[in-house]
Amino acid sequence: MGLFKKKPKDFKATIANTGETFDVTGGINLLQAALNAGIKWPHDCRVGSCGTCRCLLKEGKVKPLNDFSYVLDKEMLDNGMILACQARLQSDITVEVDFEQGALR
Ligand code: FES
Repeated sequence: MGLFKKKPKDFKATIANTGETFDVTGGINLLQAALNAGIKWPHDCRVGSCGTCRCLLKEGKVKPLNDFSYVLDKEMLDNGMILACQARLQSDITVEVDFEQGALR
């Protein structure tokens, strides 16, 4: 019991530009957790190919489920941009969400 099925940790995500916080439990991705919490997080494909769900990671650590560089250019990556639908939390995080698509670079 336990050895091979480690329970994913629960983390908290904060959206700096709205002040909203929500829990990310059970190892689900950041976008799914936000949607579960009723947040109108911009999204489209949910599989890491459109870039709509992008956000800036201000604090904390995430693990990419899919390489972010398929849709984010170098400048975006250098700025700390991540794809919420392809991000699994590794700590509590603070992000800025691009609610007005294109407002963040
Ligand atoms: S929703 Fe399309 S990349 Fe995340």
